[in-house]
Amino acid sequence: MAIEKTFSIIKPNAVKKNVIGKIITHFEDNDLKIAASQLINLDRPKAEEFYAEHKERPFFGELVDFMTSGPIMIMCLSGEDAVAKNRNIMGATNPAEADEGTLRKLYGDSLGENAVHGSDSPASADRELALFFSTKEICNA
Ligand code: RTP
Ligand code: MG
Repeated sequence: MAIEKTFSIIKPNAVKKNVIGKIITHFEDNDLKIAASQLINLDRPKAEEFYAEHKERPFFGELVDFMTSGPIMIMCLSGEDAVAKNRNIMGATNPAEADEGTLRKLYGDSLGENAVHGSDSPASADRELALFFSTKEICNA
């Protein structure tokens, strides 16, 4: 399998719970490496651009409100099959439906406040990484 890069966010509810380290441990324990990371405050235009695919959905305003409600940790994760692997580590979108031991089961509060984001395909990963990191900022360990 190929080495891939994927984009990950630790969302405001998880940052508030002070579990950044615990979440990163799950990535490391599954052989994903952090190739870039930054704690940022997302502004509304950037949040709207990031979630543009959901612009017409009824929950869009709520989603943008939440993602701009406090600091988030943005990361580039690198490793074998990183896109799918990260989605498995995260679990189902709704924490109530997520498998035991997944990040969303452990740290998600609700469908909206589900602790983490991960790119859903290699093409999404490329788009999302380019939105937040310059190529210079992504390290190849
Ligand atoms: P994400 O993009 O955050 O990694 O999550 P995902 O791929 O599992 O889910 P997606 O369909 O892309 O939805 C993006 C985020 O929108 C929120 N959501 N709210 N209230 C609702 O019905 C609803 N549906 C989705 C979730 O926070 C989801 O992560
Ligand atoms: Mg998504």
